[in-house]
Amino acid sequence: MKTILITGANSGIGKALALVVAKHPYQLVLLVRKESEIQRLSDEITASTSNQNVSVFACDVSRKSQIQSCCNAILQRHPTLDVLINNAAVYTETRTETPDKIELNVAVNVVAPFLLAQGLLPALEKASNPRVYNISSIGEKYGKADFEDIMSHSNYSGNAVYNKSKLLLTMLTYKCAELYADKHIRFNCIHPGATKTRLVSDEDIAQMPLVLRAIFRMVKGFRKTPEQSAETIYNLIANQEFSTLTGKFFSNGTQIYSSAQSRDKHLIDKAWKYYVQITNQEST
Ligand SMILES: NC(=O)c1ccc[n+]([C@@H]2O[C@H](COP(=O)([O-])OP(=O)(O)OC[C@H]3O[C@@H](n4cnc5c(N)ncnc54)[C@H](OP(=O)(O)O)[C@@H]3O)[C@@H](O)[C@H]2O)c1
Repeated sequence: MKTILITGANSGIGKALALVVAKHPYQLVLLVRKESEIQRLSDEITASTSNQNVSVFACDVSRKSQIQSCCNAILQRHPTLDVLINNAAVYTETRTETPDKIELNVAVNVVAPFLLAQGLLPALEKASNPRVYNISSIGEKYGKADFEDIMSHSNYSGNAVYNKSKLLLTMLTYKCAELYADKHIRFNCIHPGATKTRLVSDEDIAQMPLVLRAIFRMVKGFRKTPEQSAETIYNLIANQEFSTLTGKFFSNGTQIYSSAQSRDKHLIDKAWKYYVQITNQEST
């Protein structure tokens, strides 16, 4: 039985994906932010799918130290990991820093996926075809490769900062595809499609500039359900044809080219340098 780990599994696409995967013979390892969600999620998945192989861990992925201890706890219980899906993410119109002094979008959307992959490496290495999928967004093409202000100290705008985080996530995914090629660990990005979730709250929309607010309100009516997006993601992961690909970007179930800047080798190396700097800072 293959083991699959999904972060951000308590809501939106992550929860819908956990429910889809649980209908198949998988061992599920689910990450939620709060301890109080563990029992509720585990009971709900087991009751609605009768999959008894569900283990849920609490981890605030914005905290480097929590990621490390969570990875250690996972490794104790699950020595092999076949698929890691980094789905957890934030969008916020207000700038926040984590206790590690990392801007929140950078911490959750960019740093956490790679710290998790690194921390779970011993388990990934034991799988026959280990794969890491980072849930990105086609919004990456609007992101600015602004490394001088990677923590977005000036002119904070939720949409710009989110898009920048997805651009960095995409670039670092390509870098890891290269770095881990000799270990045969595949790294790919998935854009799930515009989906009706609570990622961007009504309060966030209310704080957006007028034009952006109008676009968001218009798109709202055309979004997919989390269940539809989860089915697309599951079909991609379960498709043998795609299972050995690495360094690719999938949008709505189809392989596409991400933006030219996200594939620029010089920029990717620069992004990796910043990632290494951020992760080497002392955590709290
Ligand atoms: N919805 C869309 O239209 C869309 C489009 C493109 C890409 N995406 C991507 O799809 C993925 C899923 O998003 P969604 O739309 O399903 O949004 P969502 O319902 O808001 O789910 C986000 C998940 O991330 C978790 N999370 C956030 N910060 C965390 C932290 N510090 N520690 C642990 N967990 C944390 C949330 O947990 P809490 O419940 O505890 O906050 C939640 O479970 C994201 O990567 C998003 O960027 C979404």
